[in-house]
Amino acid sequence: MGFDRTGQAEAFDAIGHRYDQAFPHKEGQVAAAEWLIKSLPPASRVLDLGCGTGIPTARQFAEAGLGVVGVDLSGAMVALAREHVPTGVFHQADIADLRPGGPRDLGRFDAVTAFFSLLMLPRAEIPLALRTIHRVLRPGGLFALSMVEADVDDFSIPFIGTTIRVSGYLREELREVVEAAGFDIVEESSYSYAPATADVPPEVQIFLRCGRRA
Ligand SMILES: C[S@@+](CC[C@H](N)C(=O)[O-])C[C@H]1O[C@@H](n2cnc3c(N)ncnc32)[C@H](O)[C@@H]1O
Repeated sequence: MGFDRTGQAEAFDAIGHRYDQAFPHKEGQVAAAEWLIKSLPPASRVLDLGCGTGIPTARQFAEAGLGVVGVDLSGAMVALAREHVPTGVFHQADIADLRPGGPRDLGRFDAVTAFFSLLMLPRAEIPLALRTIHRVLRPGGLFALSMVEADVDDFSIPFIGTTIRVSGYLREELREVVEAAGFDIVEESSYSYAPATADVPPEVQIFLRCGRRA
């Protein structure tokens, strides 16, 4: 199976810590991670897919005493995450590497987060990424997802001085795709978000809190 990642890691390598400056308000994301922290037994293992700089999510988990594993395609993002969250374990890897039968096996997790990272995949790959998350979760495990609401597939947009390709769904379709991968959606929320940078347009962010169906 071939995965086209042309330019995606390079864009985030170039963005580095400017990412956190462009997206300073992360109330929805922080609240979703707090839901996981409250719902999980102490010392649970959490996987943060597309962890970026490690702020705020991986740091939140580490400060709550959870075992954090982060995965990101960008070497610069992984380096920042290691600096920001010294107790976390971070791998420079592709989400697709974790697929069933793929080259990376990180074991099983009590929870998975994918905040604005599955939108970096072409639509054709998103169901596989969701099935991968289902597979790495223990039965009854929890999953928090955020996406930007948009009817686009592998669409190039200007982003913090560079260009990235993104995909998205309108919310009804997003729900269908997530449920079809074996998740029950227990809560949905959305936020209108204006990033603190002129070259990223205002967006509607959708957060889904999910449980793994057996
Ligand atoms: C929009 S940022 C979100 C970062 C972080 N989750 C947050 O919300 O602050 C997307 C992240 O996904 C990473 N990424 C893009 N494609 C990926 C892939 N195929 N596998 C793993 N990470 C990927 C990027 O390098 C970037 O750090």
